[in-house]
Amino acid sequence: MKKRKAVVLYGSLTGNTEMVGKAFAEVLEEYGFETRCEKLKAGKDWSEDPVIFSDYDIVVLGSLIVAGLPYKEVYQLLGLQGNRTISGVKMEPGAEPDPEKNPMGRLQLHSGIPGIVAPSVATGSPGAKGDMLPTIYGVVYATYGGSGVGPPECYGSLEVMEELLRVNGVRTVGKFACPGKEMRHEAVDGIAKALNINIADSMAMIQRFTLDPDAEEFQSMDAEKITAIKHYLGIEDDYSMLEGNDPLGIGKPGSTFWHYDSGKRPSQRDLTKAKIFMAEIIEDYFLTTTGDPRPPYAMYTCIS
Ligand SMILES: Cc1cc2nc3c(=O)[nH]c(=O)nc-3n(C[C@H](O)[C@H](O)[C@H](O)COP(=O)(O)O)c2cc1C
Repeated sequence: MKKRKAVVLYGSLTGNTEMVGKAFAEVLEEYGFETRCEKLKAGKDWSEDPVIFSDYDIVVLGSLIVAGLPYKEVYQLLGLQGNRTISGVKMEPGAEPDPEKNPMGRLQLHSGIPGIVAPSVATGSPGAKGDMLPTIYGVVYATYGGSGVGPPECYGSLEVMEELLRVNGVRTVGKFACPGKEMRHEAVDGIAKALNINIADSMAMIQRFTLDPDAEEFQSMDAEKITAIKHYLGIEDDYSMLEGNDPLGIGKPGSTFWHYDSGKRPSQRDLTKAKIFMAEIIEDYFLTTTGDPRPPYAMYTCIS
């Protein structure tokens, strides 16, 4: 029997989104999916190691939330404004369908702005009745601070990621979000100021530094700048959002942020929820009497 395949792609700066992505990948593997799990790193040349979505049964896309939106890296790679080289094929708007050159032929058929160039039923729109191509099932997820009002702060990003999958021919059937410890914004702002770079570049640099502090770019950087990076990254370690009170009289302090104990999220409980969520999607969609997956009619949602 042909093994089913899944790909888990995520943008993650401080590791929260990565933890959830790995939990999803673990479950997918447990259910027999051959799984590629990969962080969307700034500056990676995807043409050397492309991800062809049509090769997969499930595509999982995750991101941290920055200023109310998915991380720039995720958006640029998969969005209509980006070059979408993740598939190893540069998409040219209006290009003629060419299955030889474009293994994601489905996408080229819908070049233009999907939704305006209305994809017709029975001609391959993902999940449509009569779609001749196998449906690629999508799951989008976010980890986020939600410090003010909690869940409503992640809805927009989940929608944006669903849209990013849709324009890449993937039909989203699951949305997941959980809180993630926030790196102090002072770290991002402080590094931007100390190195005289903008916020987006500061975040990308933090990601690269966290990944490999001995990389060449840091070896050749002024010692003062390296000290500044370490200083600002170090600040977040003693970041706690719990007060010294005990509002319920049960020995549990109250939380400043909306989400409880957000300095320690994702917690084991969040990761367990993530695993249950993914297991249920796989079971309900893929463990069928015929072995064919069910049509993508139901949206599974787990947001906290
Ligand atoms: C510069 C910056 C901006 C952020 N903006 C938001 C935001 O607008 N809304 C939100 O809910 N969380 C925001 N966060 C919190 C992150 O989304 C959250 O901590 C996430 O779990 C980080 O994931 P990562 O560890 O995978 O990078 C922000 C964090 C940083 C550092």
